Amino acid sequence: MPERSEGGVRAVRRAARPPGCAAFSRLWASAEGSTDLRSQRATYACGECGHRTTQWYGQCPACFAWNSLKERQEAPRPPGGAVPPMMGLAEVDRSGDARLAVGLAEFDRVLGGGLVPGATVLIAGDPGIGKSTLLLQAAQSLSTTTGKPVLYLSAEESASQVRLRADRLGIQGDSVLLVADTDVDRLSEAVAAARPVCVMVDSIQSVRSGLVEGAPGSLAQVRCCAEVLTGLAREAGVPVLAAGHVTKEGAAAGPRTLEHLVDAVLYFEGDRHQQLRVLRAEKNRYGSVDELGLFEMTDAGLSQVADPTDVLLRRRRGVMPSGCAIAAALSGSRPLAVEVEALVVPASYGTGRRVAVGLDGARTSLILAVLERRAGVPLGQSDVFVGVSGGLRLSEPGVDLALAVAVASSARDAPLDAETVFIGELSLSGELRSVSGMRRRIQEAGRLGFASVVCPPGQYSGTGGARVRTVGSLEDALSAVLG
Ligand code: TYD
Ligand code: MG
Repeated sequence: MPERSEGGVRAVRRAARPPGCAAFSRLWASAEGSTDLRSQRATYACGECGHRTTQWYGQCPACFAWNSLKERQEAPRPPGGAVPPMMGLAEVDRSGDARLAVGLAEFDRVLGGGLVPGATVLIAGDPGIGKSTLLLQAAQSLSTTTGKPVLYLSAEESASQVRLRADRLGIQGDSVLLVADTDVDRLSEAVAAARPVCVMVDSIQSVRSGLVEGAPGSLAQVRCCAEVLTGLAREAGVPVLAAGHVTKEGAAAGPRTLEHLVDAVLYFEGDRHQQLRVLRAEKNRYGSVDELGLFEMTDAGLSQVADPTDVLLRRRRGVMPSGCAIAAALSGSRPLAVEVEALVVPASYGTGRRVAVGLDGARTSLILAVLERRAGVPLGQSDVFVGVSGGLRLSEPGVDLALAVAVASSARDAPLDAETVFIGELSLSGELRSVSGMRRRIQEAGRLGFASVVCPPGQYSGTGGARVRTVGSLEDALSAVLG
């Protein structure tokens, strides 16, 4: 039946419009666009994903959830014509934009110097990684440094559970105002009454708003609550920090969907079985995304790691086990000495496996190819495993040389000297290139008491205690350190 087809239906609709006469079609157009007609037309919205349709379906066409469409009346449009207020850029008041330091240096470093009033920051991470702990410690620090209250909306845990955690952290919490509730719509009244210096929300997946249908944690709710919170932050001029879980199923209602709504997304990461926790910015409208904040989870909460090498690097004497090399990496503005490890074993099946933990997989493959082709280290019939000490994730090219040398050391079962640090990026031709912050990295190696640094050629006079050995290519580096 032709009327059933898409094209057929469209043709019928088009035919229903009055033909001809220009005056008549202008009238029709104005009737179609009028708010009266619009306000009466029912639409349906999915409680799961927020998708809207003009017709009811048993299954949402966008997310395929069953029975999730609910009827809603379209809000009448405000009458047009009002000109929004305009002002010259120079007239804009910026007095309220001074940064608010959290008082935890590692946190402030990642934020770019502190919280910006009116900004919304999402702290995302796996369940159990320490988001609530970080929020509570930040709340305590903020309220003590500013002498003003911090509002803490706990939707996931009861007031007594939060109190238990505070006791464990040794937090008095006199100025941390707790609201154990899931309703974000009432938050603006609480903010108006308490005038806090900052608002914490734990977590974005467990709060709800009456503005949309759906259970807490559903896509529509998470998105709506994020909008309510960003609106609140902007109107009240207070920063809002919200915790958010990274969901296993591709972060459906997680940070990814919120990224464009909030001003900053910070990931709180680490191995739950290890102590090190890394805070890094995935997005930051007010700062760099290169800085890392380092913490250790202890029995009494998170402690800041001021000297990362203490945690990341076990200093050895003499020679190292084969397959280990020290790299002077750079994380944002801060140099870090880390141990890069490699294990090369005969492949159990035809082609070798490559497994990288804490290092970029594609970059690792590239370096293995350069090693094979430019330095004559055969790896095709081998399984190669590489990793970084301390559970850190490194994606900067300055660790290329250390990785290549570690793999060669394991392949030849020849250990490296424990007093040597490697810096440099490898090109496909096997040449060594300088990376950003060369001098700072070399100085850090000297500060830590390493005897020598192997790096690409450059002007490195006055960089401190370590002897600098410059090499032009990977082949030269290998013959210098492995003979
Ligand atoms: P939590 O902050 O509740 O994690 P999230 O909010 O990200 O789910 O922290 C959970 C883990 O941290 C839990 O396994 C216990 C551990 N922990 C400590 O080791 N020391 C502490 O002082 C605290 C408060 C928690
Ligand atoms: Mg929590």
